[in-house]
Amino acid sequence: MSVCSIYIGSDHAGFDLKQEIVQRLRAEFPKVNVIDHGCASTESVDYPAYAQKVAQSVAQETNSRGILICGTGIGMCIAANKVRGIRAASIWNLESAQLCREHNDCNVICLAGRFLKPNEAWSFILQFIKTSFLGGRHLQRIKMIDDLEKPE
Ligand code: RB5
Repeated sequence: MSVCSIYIGSDHAGFDLKQEIVQRLRAEFPKVNVIDHGCASTESVDYPAYAQKVAQSVAQETNSRGILICGTGIGMCIAANKVRGIRAASIWNLESAQLCREHNDCNVICLAGRFLKPNEAWSFILQFIKTSFLGGRHLQRIKMIDDLEKPE
């Protein structure tokens, strides 16, 4: 596995799931840097702040990935995709976790803390971490997405 660092963040609605996932990541991947960017409790916070921290860390480090958890996964996804170089996907099943890597070369996944059980979320994360980008016809599409980030 070529992933060197995994950055993770949540808001209050994703906090409990994040704590569980951080533990599992550290046990499963002892050689990977697992960096928890918060939040630190179930007290209400603003999810864009945590999306920004994780997305900026991932954008600055090749071979890193990000995991963001809020109530639905949707707000985190919208916010993370505003950061240049980030391709974030809201993931709801194993197939979407696989295809977001194979076709979209996603470097961040966003999960719904209010709707996913820990084992479900964990299976999506493993799929995301272990699946490679297929390249080929998908590469030109990624380049087209990159072009959207360039100033007009
Ligand atoms: C917080 O109440 C909730 O809005 C947030 O966790 C997330 O679901 C936003 O998309």
